[in-house]
Amino acid sequence: MSRSAHPAGPRHGDVLPEGHYLAPPGDLNALDPKVWPSTVARRADGVVTVGGLDVTALAAEYGTPAYLMDEQDFRARARAWREAFGEGADVFYAGKAFLSKAVVRWLREEGLNLDVCSAGELAVALAAGMEPERIALHGNNKTPQELEQAVKTGVGHIVVDSLREIELLAEIADRLGVRQQVLIRVTVGVEAHTHEFIATAHEDQKFGLSLGTGAAAEAVELALGRPGLELRGIHSHIGSQIFDTAGFEVAARRLVGLLGQIRDTHGVELPELDLGGGLGIAYTSEDDPKQPAEIAAALAEIVRRECAAAGLAVPRLSVEPGRAIVGPTAFTLYEVGTIKPLPGLRTYVSVDGGMSDNIRTALYDAEYSVALVSRASAAEPMLVRVVGKHCESGDIVVRDAWLPADLAPGDLIAVPATGAYCRSMASNYNHALRPPVVAVGTDGARVIVRRETEEDLLRLDIG
Ligand code: LLP
Repeated sequence: MSRSAHPAGPRHGDVLPEGHYLAPPGDLNALDPKVWPSTVARRADGVVTVGGLDVTALAAEYGTPAYLMDEQDFRARARAWREAFGEGADVFYAGKAFLSKAVVRWLREEGLNLDVCSAGELAVALAAGMEPERIALHGNNKTPQELEQAVKTGVGHIVVDSLREIELLAEIADRLGVRQQVLIRVTVGVEAHTHEFIATAHEDQKFGLSLGTGAAAEAVELALGRPGLELRGIHSHIGSQIFDTAGFEVAARRLVGLLGQIRDTHGVELPELDLGGGLGIAYTSEDDPKQPAEIAAALAEIVRRECAAAGLAVPRLSVEPGRAIVGPTAFTLYEVGTIKPLPGLRTYVSVDGGMSDNIRTALYDAEYSVALVSRASAAEPMLVRVVGKHCESGDIVVRDAWLPADLAPGDLIAVPATGAYCRSMASNYNHALRPPVVAVGTDGARVIVRRETEEDLLRLDIG
């Protein structure tokens, strides 16, 4: 079997038949700090290390596939968000991106709050010792049980998403004799420039209460009229993996407009404004995300300006970054198995995981990069598609990438920027065992979420 690159195949700079631009290969041994966690480096012998630990040793100890998470990088990103927004604002990490008890402890220590969107996420947060008042509950269809549990637990605020939920929550609060703090999720009508499935502030989708139709104003009136609810403010989340601050600025402007309208109609100035999450990260070297300080300054300025114009006191701001904190902190380590060159097309490189540990490529056409990490190579670049071991042809991990032409079964390759929405959206398709999350910190490596076993699968299957 020849493993040389195929000169008749696509060249870099080409736009492939599927419309994907083929970036030039560059130095295949280089690790772009934009997409790799901060403690990752390639040692003189060619082996890649994270937190000073050799990935070949980590693979031998913990197996592959595995998510390797850089704790120092995670903490530094969490801290950067905290510091960028300062004392006058709250940063709620969006647990849906990735949640585990260790991560909750890191967040607590770094002074962040936590956004959860299900009873399951709430349970993990509480098990790890997060103070309930630092937790916010989200969701477009929270069950009565979830609402009751959140109220009983004493979560800081609940972001209500429908008129029905306001009624339901008010009854629960009355019954339990508490006054629950709430924010109202407002659909501000912004078309975020991201994948349709992860854009959330245009009118035609399931989240929030529309500013345009008057549903948001109706929700405000309803909530203000319920003694069991303390309406603290309004919230919007315009979508995810967004690079441009313009959408956030439009959302902020419209939300401040609503705060002014509430003051004029009801004589109350709501003290809080939550602008959600959604800031994009670099998945490949082509992406140029904004830094937290930049986004914090832009948002604070627009809110300050709009409030001054409306004669409102500046509300306490909050944001809910998920991906921007955890996304770049982890990479997925795979072992190479079958390698199939398709002459004139590309070489298919199969790994021991796939769409069960990273569904994002199949679901959103997400782009990733990949590198050979168990050794360096001086071989010429070959165009590859990294695929998984699942029973469908859409099981693609990295659609188009370059790897050295001497790649061989048994080599370890790694896909960076898989910290967000990979383990949290992992599945057992084909009865795959979900990979572990191994945290690498200053004191070495440890498993924070263990690998599933066949016993785990059989425990659920009760015959
Ligand atoms: N706040 C709310 C209300 C949200 O719905 C989300 C994400 C966030 C904050 C955090 O957004 P982030 O900063 O992580 O972009 N599975 C998709 C992303 C779905 C995002 C859902 N909501 C993906 O893999 O791209």
